[in-house]
Amino acid sequence: MKRVITYGTFDLFHQGHYNILKRARELGDYLIVGVTSESYDIERGKLNVKDSLLKRIENVRKTGFADEIIIEEYQGQKVSDIIKYNIDLLVLGSDWKGKFDYLKNYCEVVYLERTKNISSTKLRSEGKIYRIGIVTDDTEDNEMVQESKFVSGLHVESVYSEDISVAEEFCDKYELDSYGTDYRRFLEGLEIVYIKAGIKKRAEYIRYALQHGRHVVSDTPMTLDTGEQKALFQLAKEQGVVLVEKLTLVYLRAFNQLVWLTHNELVGDVVAVKCAVSQDDFQGGKSFNETVSQALCACIKLLGKDYLDVNTNAVRGSDGGFVYDVITVKYPKTLATIEIGTTVDVENELVIIGSKGRITVPNDWWNTGYFEAKVEGQEFLKRYSFNFEGNGLRYLLQELTIMIRDKRTECTRLFYEESETLAELLKIIDQRG
Ligand code: CTP
Repeated sequence: MKRVITYGTFDLFHQGHYNILKRARELGDYLIVGVTSESYDIERGKLNVKDSLLKRIENVRKTGFADEIIIEEYQGQKVSDIIKYNIDLLVLGSDWKGKFDYLKNYCEVVYLERTKNISSTKLRSEGKIYRIGIVTDDTEDNEMVQESKFVSGLHVESVYSEDISVAEEFCDKYELDSYGTDYRRFLEGLEIVYIKAGIKKRAEYIRYALQHGRHVVSDTPMTLDTGEQKALFQLAKEQGVVLVEKLTLVYLRAFNQLVWLTHNELVGDVVAVKCAVSQDDFQGGKSFNETVSQALCACIKLLGKDYLDVNTNAVRGSDGGFVYDVITVKYPKTLATIEIGTTVDVENELVIIGSKGRITVPNDWWNTGYFEAKVEGQEFLKRYSFNFEGNGLRYLLQELTIMIRDKRTECTRLFYEESETLAELLKIIDQRG
């Protein structure tokens, strides 16, 4: 009996899927179909899958070609499956040509011609597309154009800048459809605006966009005026649109798991949280406020909104500029310390010190898929690792499209009140020195 296996996501099941399953079945006597799990697809950066795993399995089952259906959960699983299920032939579409030749040591590998003019990607693109515009003072997109390509239903179309030459250069650089200096006209063709203009005019741009019913992603902080921020959230709510800050940390799976484990007392009662960032290593924006925001966001997610006191200490250079900052945020039972190397190098790290151990996120902790825990009584370090791609923005954008679809205005990753606490802390810190 010849045993055949094939794999796929089988999203928005189409004729191409049907054909390959039929042909794979005809090449043997028993067909096993591996359907990718949701977390595997997220891990490999495929964020645009529409159908649930159960629906995709059901669609494969309904063809009647699969004798058995399994779930593909991790990279490298194919080798284990071939051995486990005693496979004679692996069938893949021609889009994978050559990529699995190394499996020829285990079984026969055949690549079948794809069915022309149909794919899940094509079907997904026929759905609703949200058009994004970028408001900027310079020609950097902070990866918005590239990252949006990983999320289905999004397209960056245009750019606005007060400076026409900046707008034109940006438009050419990222191959957008249009550019302009008339904010009102720029907004007309868009559903979403990404505002990365300087802090001075940021709130003004946000307010106008919200008043005109546009969803907004803003660089952080939106404003240093806490009253103004509150009013902007209120306006977003009234208008039924989304207003989110570009704090990618809260959308990362590793960070969310870390918060969850901390709240579930993995390392006992939290005594201290330490975050260190060299501003030079911090991508996107690179302003002091934006750098501190990520660290404050980590503290708020880990320790909550009810801080008691904030203190700042800084070393200045001979020109009076800030060189190194230490900020402490005191909570009833915990002390959070934020160390920023403004012009000097500090070791990037986030550490949570608890009564029963320590969690460490090494290196660029604001943009990570990894952390480790040393727990009292356990001999070995526990390591947590999630495949992570890009700069985190695609995960924020994916959530944004879901919020828009579900008509939710408040982001549950960072609630309005958490954002407001962050702005409040930032204002105090900004007045330092
Ligand atoms: N396939 C095919 N012909 C098509 C589309 C897919 O033969 N027109 C095959 C793929 O080569 C693969 C299997 O069907 O072996 C499952 O493919 P999958 O990646 O789930 O489908 P796609 O339509 O290619 O999805 P996407 O556009 O998201 O990559």
